[in-house]
Amino acid sequence: MQISTAIFVKSASKLSDCNKSTLPEYAFIGRSNVGKSSLINMLCNNNKLAKTSSTPGKTQLINFFLINANWHLVDLPGYGYAKTSKTNRDKFSELIIDYCTKRENLKCLFILIDSRLPLQLIDLEFMEWCVEKEIPYSIIYTKADKNSKSELIRNINAIETKLLVHWEELPNTFTTSSEKKVGKEAILEFIHFNNQEFIKPINTF
Ligand code: GTP
Ligand code: MG
Repeated sequence: MQISTAIFVKSASKLSDCNKSTLPEYAFIGRSNVGKSSLINMLCNNNKLAKTSSTPGKTQLINFFLINANWHLVDLPGYGYAKTSKTNRDKFSELIIDYCTKRENLKCLFILIDSRLPLQLIDLEFMEWCVEKEIPYSIIYTKADKNSKSELIRNINAIETKLLVHWEELPNTFTTSSEKKVGKEAILEFIHFNNQEFIKPINTF
């Protein structure tokens, strides 16, 4: 699938402000600075679409982008920003919790994980929470360009070994670099495949 049009629709600070669309939606989440906004720009081939920054916490609102006039990409704020927090409600903002649990047209949450780091507790906790809430998710490893190929494979294997202690199988995984434009086709094919179930062809007589 090619992205031919990507248009910023709106920002929302609460669930009730989200656009009333029923189109299929794919949202990007993960720790602050993991590369969510950069990945959206890479997929859409437009570096000015979602705002990126080397300072964590850039994206504070939910940002909606209409793609090819028939589905949405959603840029979510990062989690793991608060220094100490005990409950999920402290760790993951009310905005994130509301959006992920109540947005009916959310088809898949892409959880972004930094491919250079060992599995972070906050990412594991977020995945456990998604499983508990039955939120469909896939994993996207980011910043693959920052490691050598052998380090990248070693790091990802270490992360997946830890995940398999908790679950019998892994969700879909994608390895990406926004810098080097790696992983675009695989993610867009996955979305295209999922969209088929939801976007019915319009009858023409
Ligand atoms: P918040 O909105 O603050 O939660 O961050 P974010 O997850 O949206 O991260 P963002 O896309 O703003 O990127 C954070 C920093 O990482 C920026 O300086 C990006 O240039 C850099 N970055 C993102 N993706 C990549 C990548 O694939 N490779 C490299 N080398 N740098 C990247
Ligand atoms: Mg961002």
